Amino acid sequence: MARKTVTYVCQECGAVAPKWSGRCEGCGAWNTLVEEQAPESAPKGLGSKKGRKIEFQGLKGETPHAPRQVTGIKEFDRVTGGGMVAGSTLLVGGDPGIGKSTLLLQVASALSKTLTPVYISGEEAVDQLRLRADRLGLTDADVGLAAATSVRDIAASLGNAGGPGGPDLVVIDSIQTMFVDSLESAPGTVAQVRTSAQELIRLAKRQGFALILVGHVTKDGQIAGPRVLEHMVDTVLYFEGDRSHQFRILRAVKNRYGPTDEIGVFEMTGAGLAEVANPSALFLAGRDDDVSGASVFAGIEGTRPVLVEIQSLTAPSALGTPRRAVVGWDTGRLAMILAVLESRSSLALAGLDVYLNIVGGLKIGEPAADLAVAAALISSVSGVPVPPETVVFGEIGLSGEVRAVSRVDARLKEAAKLGFSRAIIPGQSRAQGNNRGNNKKTPERTMEITEISRLEDLLVLFAKPDSQRAGQRAGPPVAAANTRGRGHG
Ligand code: TYD
Ligand code: MG
Repeated sequence: MARKTVTYVCQECGAVAPKWSGRCEGCGAWNTLVEEQAPESAPKGLGSKKGRKIEFQGLKGETPHAPRQVTGIKEFDRVTGGGMVAGSTLLVGGDPGIGKSTLLLQVASALSKTLTPVYISGEEAVDQLRLRADRLGLTDADVGLAAATSVRDIAASLGNAGGPGGPDLVVIDSIQTMFVDSLESAPGTVAQVRTSAQELIRLAKRQGFALILVGHVTKDGQIAGPRVLEHMVDTVLYFEGDRSHQFRILRAVKNRYGPTDEIGVFEMTGAGLAEVANPSALFLAGRDDDVSGASVFAGIEGTRPVLVEIQSLTAPSALGTPRRAVVGWDTGRLAMILAVLESRSSLALAGLDVYLNIVGGLKIGEPAADLAVAAALISSVSGVPVPPETVVFGEIGLSGEVRAVSRVDARLKEAAKLGFSRAIIPGQSRAQGNNRGNNKKTPERTMEITEISRLEDLLVLFAKPDSQRAGQRAGPPVAAANTRGRGHG
């Protein structure tokens, strides 16, 4: 007879420990281990009982394309890869108050024109949902609303799904409020979240409706409780943004039915979330062309080029270890760029506090932003603005080389569209082709392009004429740039 054992499960990362301790070995979080009954261990080996034979099939074969539930909200449809798929599960994570419930109510309402959506809330009462729908002007939409938290009740109510009258889409807001009554743990614990999700996903597969789960995120931005949830679902979307800004970004981080790293951009308005068809214009709105410490990065988010402003501020530090604060970019990457700048130029950055901000609440993961970050930093230290109407992109290597990046044409085209007339890009871009060998009408025709192959070449662009430099306060340490650079521009 197998013995029931007790295990301790971390509520942050889902790691399992045999003993209680104050700190999780897996993720280092404090006070997150909660006692759970481990499932009875399986009997050893398979025994003598014979299994059923599995049939193997080839890669070639007829597979019908899964029909998509298209909402008509383009920013949402693109991120899901062209609409949700029946029987699949989508997880939407995001900070509290970012607009998850608002978005999903809008999605459900949009779908109600052609399909039957239901919206089950474990957090708000039906009256509250109605009030929100009223504010969003969606009261005419045919969405079934319910306030419930018991998965058993929900399963019983969706009993005839798939058949006539059953829902095509079920929104569960949020998975942390759901519970299965056969488990002893409280709602929101890893065990409950995992089991509730498992049951709902199984139901969705069996009855053929699309399931959307809302998941709360922890302080450090992961879907609360279990990473395991991310493995169980087909698609994971994060709804990000700064609550003090009106921009919201929906980002796919996993998608079994479409591309990842695609983003959808929304704007929170008084009447709910509005789609933003041209995010670059929004991110650059209110930009001042003539200040030092700012550069414009021409990036690629998913399939779309997006222009964003990168701002940096450097100031002499009063601390032994200077502050490095970053919003929207990777801290490690900033440290690397600072180290390369320090060793490849005469910039003295070691004693400076460095603040870096990606304007508009976008998070950038592309290494192509390196050069734009470097430009903002050099500009901040030297007090010389980046040349006006200029976009910058390129990856920086440890030896100070500027590496080519993908989709140069798309980036330049977007920049040209938004009225930029200059670009600072990696030197190899031309040699590598990028399909622009015999293009008739490339953005180059209208843009002045500076190709640089080393970081030193970038410094030259910020060197001030001697007359101008004389009056500056002591210290802008780009003095040697002119002689160190290899002269390009
Ligand atoms: P909500 O969707 O409740 O967030 P979540 O479900 O992610 O916790 O969004 C709440 C915020 O959105 C709230 O601070 C008010 C704001 N909001 C608007 O600005 N306009 C609107 O039309 C709505 C419905 C909400
Ligand atoms: Mg909510």
